[in-house]
Amino acid sequence: MSILVTGGAGYIGSHVVRLLLERGDQVIVADDISSGVVGRIGQAELVQLDLSSTDAVASLNAAFEKYSVDAVIHLAARKQVGESVLRPEFYFEQNIGGMVNLLTAMQQSKVSKIVFSSSAATYGMPDVVAVSEDLICQPINPYGQTKLIGEWMVANASRAWGLKHASLRYFNVAGAGWPDLADTAVMNLVPIVFKALAENRQPAVFGDDYPTPDGSCVRDYVHVLDLAEAHLAALDYLEREDRQSSVFNVGTGVGSSVFEVLAEIRRVSGIDFETSIEPRRAGDPPRLCADVSRIKKELGWEAKRGLAEIIETAWAARS
Ligand code: WQD
Repeated sequence: MSILVTGGAGYIGSHVVRLLLERGDQVIVADDISSGVVGRIGQAELVQLDLSSTDAVASLNAAFEKYSVDAVIHLAARKQVGESVLRPEFYFEQNIGGMVNLLTAMQQSKVSKIVFSSSAATYGMPDVVAVSEDLICQPINPYGQTKLIGEWMVANASRAWGLKHASLRYFNVAGAGWPDLADTAVMNLVPIVFKALAENRQPAVFGDDYPTPDGSCVRDYVHVLDLAEAHLAALDYLEREDRQSSVFNVGTGVGSSVFEVLAEIRRVSGIDFETSIEPRRAGDPPRLCADVSRIKKELGWEAKRGLAEIIETAWAARS
């Protein structure tokens, strides 16, 4: 197959690209290289492109035709929650505007399959042990809102012109499938802790008085290679006529607290660091874990790697 991967030079996208190349697909990466790294995409073709720009539709149509693209995996997006609160217009322009252009070009070029990168941020602050896809989504920041709207956009395109779609709601992604594809951004817990250790600072724990077993927040950490494999499973699912669902959680179903993540980092790094307990961070739900029964049943996918492998591979790949 010929697959266009938007955001394919990013941390998650580059894992998807490598798996597609390994299984023999032709891969075209559309990426503005604002945070992506060209060296990550291997033998894939690069179309350097900001999806929200005025010439994006023409460039995408040209790429669809040149490479006879069969399907799109759409990961390109801005993804910093805090920044989205400060710059909501930018997030809507980039994430929604980009998607308008992408879907317009797909309709014009008759590319009728898409796997969309959504997020557990669509749920907001759910007060349940494990979040199922049927829960009403109440995103609490513009980033999560753009992801939920993206899900609506692909569903609308499905009704209007027959787009086949699957949206994957990522939980907390970490680890590295290959050492050269590490998460180089310092935006999430694991890379933030690694940076603090490299600078001889004590990692911060945002709140130790949550109603959780050890008082710190619990998240569902999913290995980036498992997540990448879920994209291939979703792509294969789009070929099936008996599809039941279009939205899938991608997690492990197992929660880990911040203290548990830190303990794993102590074990793997061999560094016996102290932590600094800080006030709660605004907007953090105490617990956010996936109910993964749907993706297992319908896509036949489940995570194969746990917290130990996440931290081990992330540590081995750290820059
Ligand atoms: C994890 C836990 C923090 C840093 C975010 C987005 C979400 C999704 C994934 C994209 C929390 C705690 C963190 C630190 C800490 N992104 N923490 N000390 O907030 O669960 O999810 O990334 O789709 O939409 O919101 O991830 O890695 O920021 O935090 O104690 O220095 O670690 O409070 O409980 P989060 P995170």
